[in-house]
Amino acid sequence: MRKVKIGIIGCGVISNTYTWLDIQACADLDRDKAVSTAKKYGIPKGCSTEELLNDPEIEIVINLTIPAAHTEVNKQILMAGKHLYCEKPFALSLQEAEEVISLAKSKGLMIGAAPETFLGAGLQTCRKVIDDGWIGTPISATANMISYGIETWHTSPEFFYKKGAGPMLDMGPYYITALVSLLGPIKRTACFANIGRKTRKIYSKPLRGKTISVEVPTTYTGIMEFENGVNANINMSFDIWMSNLPKLEIYGTEGTLILPDPNYFGGKIKIFRKERVLDALKLYGGEDKPQIDICEDIQEIP
Ligand SMILES: NC(=O)c1ccc[n+]([C@@H]2O[C@H](COP(=O)([O-])OP(=O)(O)OC[C@H]3O[C@@H](n4cnc5c(N)ncnc54)[C@H](O)[C@@H]3O)[C@@H](O)[C@H]2O)c1
Repeated sequence: MRKVKIGIIGCGVISNTYTWLDIQACADLDRDKAVSTAKKYGIPKGCSTEELLNDPEIEIVINLTIPAAHTEVNKQILMAGKHLYCEKPFALSLQEAEEVISLAKSKGLMIGAAPETFLGAGLQTCRKVIDDGWIGTPISATANMISYGIETWHTSPEFFYKKGAGPMLDMGPYYITALVSLLGPIKRTACFANIGRKTRKIYSKPLRGKTISVEVPTTYTGIMEFENGVNANINMSFDIWMSNLPKLEIYGTEGTLILPDPNYFGGKIKIFRKERVLDALKLYGGEDKPQIDICEDIQEIP
């Protein structure tokens, strides 16, 4: 079988999760970073974007640059005649996304984009749970990514607070892709967003102590109406120190589905069936509802 040769553009934090692939070359704006990444992972060539795109052996290029550069780099990749895979967010606007898609079509090239976690065992098990009617007909859902920010762990967290990022564009794709894959297309949305803190102090190394000036909203409160009539709310925040909100839940006529974190391929799934409440009510005559744990794990997925 012929192995397709792959190139990576962007040698930052996430690039190491792609190095198990047959990478022919890696490139970065910072050439030294490209060279050191190549050396670290045994990649044959660390070079500039131009050199990588001129390599005739490379057929697929993975775009791991910062969001603000995605569209420009995506277009460069396609113009060089390479198939494209892009980290999320695929584009910063619908118009940009459509431009990239129509360029790929005109060149007869394929494109793919993160996230693909909805294809993992966790969310695919949820797909089967819903299809098999465990929670009946879905009525509503909630999606919540609540965190206090990226500057506590990322080596270059500034871009998360600049155009193209913020919690909705950065983490929203995992949650919304999961919901769309499970519930179908969204008909309409509404959202409010605000900036929790205008500046953020970096806690992680090597930029510890530096201040980030925040340019995009850091807390989003939204609602979505799906074409099948399901309503969902969504909260995405880099401003909240602690919360008990669940990551992802779908509520149906027969029960509740508590989904795993859609940022990962596996995770724990819980189902809460209406019988657990109704049987208890029957047993106790419906007067004194007992304090019982009516939530059961169905599966732990590695
Ligand atoms: N870090 C994570 O945990 C994570 C997880 C999933 C997805 N992602 C996504 O992956 C992408 C990269 O994230 P990261 O955390 O690796 O960022 P990073 O800042 O660590 O790395 C980005 C790299 O891209 C390079 N770069 C920027 N513009 C470029 C350009 N025009 N041409 C060539 N190189 C360029 C930078 O020099 C840098 O080395 C983002 O879209 C992010 O949303 C990150």
